Amino acid sequence: GSAYTARFRVWRGDADGGELRDFDVEVHEGEVVLDIIHRLQATQANDLAVRWNCKAGKCGSCSAEINGRPRLMCMTRMSVFAPDETVTVTPMRAFPVVRDLVTDVSFNYTKAREIPSFVPPPGLRAGEYRMRQEDVGRSQEFRKCIECFLCQNTCHVVRDHEENKQAFAGPRFLMRIAELDMHPLDSAEESGLDRKSAAQEEHGLGYCNITKCCTEVCPENIKITDNALIPLKERAVDRKYDPLVWLGNKIRRR
Ligand code: SF4
Ligand code: F3S
Ligand code: FES
Repeated sequence: GSAYTARFRVWRGDADGGELRDFDVEVHEGEVVLDIIHRLQATQANDLAVRWNCKAGKCGSCSAEINGRPRLMCMTRMSVFAPDETVTVTPMRAFPVVRDLVTDVSFNYTKAREIPSFVPPPGLRAGEYRMRQEDVGRSQEFRKCIECFLCQNTCHVVRDHEENKQAFAGPRFLMRIAELDMHPLDSAEESGLDRKSAAQEEHGLGYCNITKCCTEVCPENIKITDNALIPLKERAVDRKYDPLVWLGNKIRRR
C-alpha cells in the first residue's frame, strides 16, 4: 500500500469561538480518521483536543462530524474518501464545545438520570426471573448501545433547537424508556410509575415525528425508530385513547 497526503480541515477553538484550519497529513493504507487526527496531534498540533478510548467502535467516545455527517472517528476508514478530497472534521453540533473536537455531553447524563431504573418484580429474588427468549431478544438490541450520542446529536428536534432540550430526552433515552416498558418483569406500573405517560409528558415523545435520522447514524445499527420509538408511541397512544385504560387510570389516581 502507498502513503499519500490528505488535506484535513479541522475545527479549532473553544466555547468562545473558533475556526476551521487546514492541515496536510500523511495517510497510510488501512487507516481511519482517528489515526490521522492522532498523527496531526503528534506532528503539527500538539494541543489538539480529541476524546477517544478504544479505537474499536465500542467506547462511544470519538463521536464527531466528518464532512458534516455524524460518525465515529475510529470507525471511519480513510478509504471512503478520495485521496484528493478535503476531509472536514468538526465537533458534534448539538452539544457545547469544550475545546476543538471535544464537546460537553452532560445533557445526555442529565436525561439518563431522569429515567427511573428497572423495578424488580415484587416477591422474586435474583435467579428466579423467568423470561421468554423472544422478550430477551427484543431488549438485547437496545443494550448494544455504546452511548456515543450520535443519535442525540442528529435528531432535528434538538440539533438546532436548544430551546427543545429541556422537554425532549432524545432518541437514546426514549429508547431506554421503551426498553424498560417492554420488559415483562419491570414492575414500575405496580409501584405507581407510569413509564408511558412519563415518556409523553416528561420526556417529549410527541416531539419525535419519526424522521429516522437517529437510526441512520447509529454505529451499532440499532433500529431505534422502528423497534423502540414507534412501538412506544403505539403503546402510549393506545393507553390514552383506550376508554378502559383511561377509566382505570382515573380510578387509580383517586
Ligand atoms: Fe450511539 Fe446508537 Fe446508542 Fe444512539 S442508540 S447513543 S447512536 S449507539
Ligand atoms: Fe428524532 Fe429519531 Fe424521532 S431523529 S424525530 S428521535 S425518529
Ligand atoms: Fe472508542 Fe471510537 S475510540 S468508539
